[in-house]
Amino acid sequence: MKKPVKIIHDCDPGHDDAVAILMAAVHPSIELKAVTVVAGNQTIEKTAVNALNVCSASGRCKNVPVSAGMSRPIVRRQVTAGDIHGVSGLDGPSFGLPDIELDPRHAVDLMIEILLSSDGDITVVPTGPLTNVAMALRREPRIAEKIERIVLMGGAYQLGNVTPSAEFNMYADPEAAHIVFTCGRPIVMMGLDVTRKARATPDVIARVKSLGNPQAVLFAEMMEFFAKTQREIYGWDGPPLHDPTTMAWLIDPGCVETKPMRVEIELRGELAYGRTCCDFFGLENSPDSRGGAMSGIQSVLDRPKGANALVAVDIDAARFWDIVYETFAMYGK
Ligand code: BDR
Ligand code: CA
Repeated sequence: MKKPVKIIHDCDPGHDDAVAILMAAVHPSIELKAVTVVAGNQTIEKTAVNALNVCSASGRCKNVPVSAGMSRPIVRRQVTAGDIHGVSGLDGPSFGLPDIELDPRHAVDLMIEILLSSDGDITVVPTGPLTNVAMALRREPRIAEKIERIVLMGGAYQLGNVTPSAEFNMYADPEAAHIVFTCGRPIVMMGLDVTRKARATPDVIARVKSLGNPQAVLFAEMMEFFAKTQREIYGWDGPPLHDPTTMAWLIDPGCVETKPMRVEIELRGELAYGRTCCDFFGLENSPDSRGGAMSGIQSVLDRPKGANALVAVDIDAARFWDIVYETFAMYGK
């Protein structure tokens, strides 16, 4: 068996973040080194409690530090997603008292500490706004070379979900997203273009629930609330399970098709603030590197830009749901 991928999961739970945590905590292909929490779907006070509740419910996080980080975005006014995730940020299930406590370290400090003391083999998996990761990169630039890869959920090369142009995690802290996308480390971007194909339809929810273990029941309770708000706002027949696509990719990269692209964050646009501008056709690459149909077009730039991310362009949804099902089955039948 191949060695597990060591990860720091930076998140803002959040129903889909919660499923991602439950997957990372149990799957043998992933070694969860820390859960660092950021404000996003709700305030940091709420997302931190939610993270503790979910980690506690997993029963697999006794030795995983959970710590709270940035309470506000770097520049912009704070936005949250209570319309989707409810007043608590994780409405639906009820949790008992968590059996783990918050680590006293600030999430940014914890991230820096873990990365600096690593062998450069840690993957950072952000599934919320990128404030913690960006702050860590600015506070201690030496961590960049210690990050093996960043596998994040956020952005879209097509339509947004919070504005017509922007996806929530990018919109909630565009300046942080800019710092991360320019940090020079390999990035895999799971955007709405694929996560919208990973919808938890009633049959998917029933299949996982049928496993009958407490974590599978929790999955179903969370999805029932999430399905309601997603149906009301977007009209989906099942809520897109955005964040777990990162974990699915770590478990089986073959379930997602990616394409190298230049991704830049719009920081000045009124209508497109927070948009991930993805150069799908390689229009700004050097003419030499474009090849094919684009090779005759002159670069519009003095200094052509290269790809800085692998952007997800398709997902095998059936395989994705098998991975989710198989992972929840690891909690027992
Ligand atoms: C992202 O926004 C949040 O509401 C979800 O948790 C996910 O990370 C989707 O746009
Ligand atoms: Ca999230």
